[in-house]
Amino acid sequence: MARIGQDIQEAARWLEAEDVVGIPTETVYGLAGNALSEKALLRIFEVKQRPFFDPLILHVATVEAIGQWVSDFPPQAQHLARMFMPGPLTLVLRKKAIIPDLVSAGMDTVAIRVPRHPLTQALLASLPFPLAAPSANPFGYISPTTAAHVDKQLGALIPYILDGGPCQVGLESTILDFSGEVPVVLRKGGLAVEQLAALLDNLSVVETSSSNPRAPGMLESHYAPATPLTLDERLPAKLHIAPEKTGGLCFDHYFEHLPESNQYMLSAKGDLEEAARNLFKALRQLETGGYDMIVAEKVPDTGLGKAINDRLMRAAKALN
Ligand code: TXA
Ligand code: MG
Repeated sequence: MARIGQDIQEAARWLEAEDVVGIPTETVYGLAGNALSEKALLRIFEVKQRPFFDPLILHVATVEAIGQWVSDFPPQAQHLARMFMPGPLTLVLRKKAIIPDLVSAGMDTVAIRVPRHPLTQALLASLPFPLAAPSANPFGYISPTTAAHVDKQLGALIPYILDGGPCQVGLESTILDFSGEVPVVLRKGGLAVEQLAALLDNLSVVETSSSNPRAPGMLESHYAPATPLTLDERLPAKLHIAPEKTGGLCFDHYFEHLPESNQYMLSAKGDLEEAARNLFKALRQLETGGYDMIVAEKVPDTGLGKAINDRLMRAAKALN
């Protein structure tokens, strides 16, 4: 079983021994391993049951360290890195040959980010190698936002979880691809697309319906809870599921047709940042509530709301 604690040196010892550990970031918890060790990388894929075609994000301590791993760092990308890193932004850039193919899934690009959580910053600063870290959940499942979430699903398979408390952002990083002609948002996440669009007049955004994903995290039925989730409030009635057997995920008002005790309200004051922080915890709580179905509603489609709606649509896709 995983030990859970705040011992950076213990986490570092496991990582130096090419094992994998849970680490806190401001977005979601990661399952980290030495990004230059084939043994550690294989263990990440094994623990997560992740297909090898899905590349990993490289985590480094500082913006300055990025140049070491990429062959081209366009000025526009450097500017964004200085603006938003450390923080919930991942850049996809052309990689140097030293990055193992297991990290990049054989592509000539690497996704790279500088996490903002102080424990993980200190951990990265103490290590002589960068960390590869997918979200610390089984492939296709909801990302963890507490150490307990990691422990529940992966605790039996990993030696240590560095406990940094609940994640401040609660959604995975926004992925911005700078390897092509124009910058493209491949995954909406913890940094609002509007903040990028304000600085990039040639920005394009891959929408949720993408069936030929450039970032496999864009697979339609990702983030699936174990209980079916629908964005159609009328569906449980059509399927003859009683209100008592239906869980509700609402934004700032309860659904009238469901008992309030069955519902999780993301933010009573209608705050999208609070809603983002609560989203994955809410989905986990509802799916263990013994319901036959979960009904969710979209939140206002602005700022972090776009990323929340993206995750809800993917969770709902699992129904089909
Ligand atoms: O917030 C986050 O980004 C978290 C924390 C732990 O840092 N990590 C995370 O990793 O969400 P993961 O593995 O669950 O999602 C990474 C996504 C995947 O969809 C993957 O396909 C995409 O990043 N990705 C990685 N490398 C890529 C590349 N070279 N080009 C395009 N997409 C890439
Ligand atoms: Mg993930």
